[in-house]
Amino acid sequence: MKEIVPAPPAIVRNDYESVRDLFARNVVPSYGRFDLALSHGAGSYVFDVAGKRYLDLGGGIAVNCLGHAHPAIIETLVEQASKLMHVSNLYYTEPQGRLAAEIVKRIGAGKVFFSNSGAEANEGLYKMARKFGHDEGRFEILTATNSFHGRTLAGIAATGQEKVKKGFEPATPGFRHIPYNDLDAAWAAISPATVAILIEGVQGEGGVTPATPAYLLGLRALCDEKKLLLFMDGVQDGHYRTGKFQSFQRILETASGSEKFVPDGLSMAKSLGGGFPIGAFWVRAPYADLLGPGTHASTFGGTPLACAVALKVFEIIEREKLDAQARKLGDGMLNELKRLAQVYPAVVKNARGLGFMLGIELAEKIPAFASSEKSAAVQFTNRLHAAGVMVIPAGTQTIRLLPPLNLKPQEADEGISKIEEVVKLLA
Ligand SMILES: Cc1ncc(COP(=O)(O)O)c(C=O)c1O
Repeated sequence: MKEIVPAPPAIVRNDYESVRDLFARNVVPSYGRFDLALSHGAGSYVFDVAGKRYLDLGGGIAVNCLGHAHPAIIETLVEQASKLMHVSNLYYTEPQGRLAAEIVKRIGAGKVFFSNSGAEANEGLYKMARKFGHDEGRFEILTATNSFHGRTLAGIAATGQEKVKKGFEPATPGFRHIPYNDLDAAWAAISPATVAILIEGVQGEGGVTPATPAYLLGLRALCDEKKLLLFMDGVQDGHYRTGKFQSFQRILETASGSEKFVPDGLSMAKSLGGGFPIGAFWVRAPYADLLGPGTHASTFGGTPLACAVALKVFEIIEREKLDAQARKLGDGMLNELKRLAQVYPAVVKNARGLGFMLGIELAEKIPAFASSEKSAAVQFTNRLHAAGVMVIPAGTQTIRLLPPLNLKPQEADEGISKIEEVVKLLA
């Protein structure tokens, strides 16, 4: 492979103040950003424009499953880009077909539609539900409180959190929320208009809360009985993050009666492309042809470039057994975080999660945080940044660890000891 020469920096003064100034003057301020301007990364580390190094335990919010600047991904990008980057979905391309086959192989008999993001993948599921129920006048999709499904208009209607909806009313019709992990509430919520239920296997933005096996199996039985589609949003918890390809496969691995469990549709994005944008939804065989020619489309969906990268990501995860590694290291980190909750209850209330999807719930009223308006999660994250670790807040009280699946054992140890240093100083 030819040596890749990095492009010169796009701005003359690559320092924090000048980068922030460019944003202040030119970028829509819809994000709450941390006071960090990042310049490059390698493996599990990211560097800011001043050269400070951070252990990246946030993974770009569960995206960088192979870390930064993975040589095989760079090589695939260059090779495929020099062959065919995009042709549109008016034609067949081999990488898209092969990637669909890899996904089907890992979930079950069905078909795949490709999009560019998680929200767009979920939009496809909403449309499928509408098509499925159309002739009977059924259109309503039930989703869970505290869920997160994306920021499109239908996405914020589906999301079970008021903060994403505020100011954008009237809401897209056809969504209603039910309490998570509450099967009785799901049964009670079904109306003649209900056509589908959509849930995350592990709620991410909502604070890292896994579904119980009984909830998943119960929803399957409910959907079968009431002729509803059961959809799962695997955008954040999927792609081996929990140690299995999809979180339901991990949650149900020891549950009796779960052998045949499979949802009717499942959305994915984030880690699917390891940092290159790609989303997708899988749909179970009986419904796989519901969206016929002309009913759904996306110009950039499933480009040869995106699919070639995603195929390489699959290949590396499988060859290096990163699923088992994420599970072992992640479950080990969870034990350490639980120890912190025991030793420092005034700072850490609880730790939970599966594999490399971990949540640290902070105690309420940490004295050192009292004088600031910022949430505990943001203040804790700022302190971790100062200590050289990146994590992701989830709500106001929880921080998430979503590290690359190829995190090394010594990096996991480094992360835990830096988190402990910060916790100790707050105790
Ligand atoms: C569970 C879940 N669904 C959907 C989305 C939306 O994905 P995207 O931001 O790629 O549109 C997210 C993003 O965080 C998510 O966590």
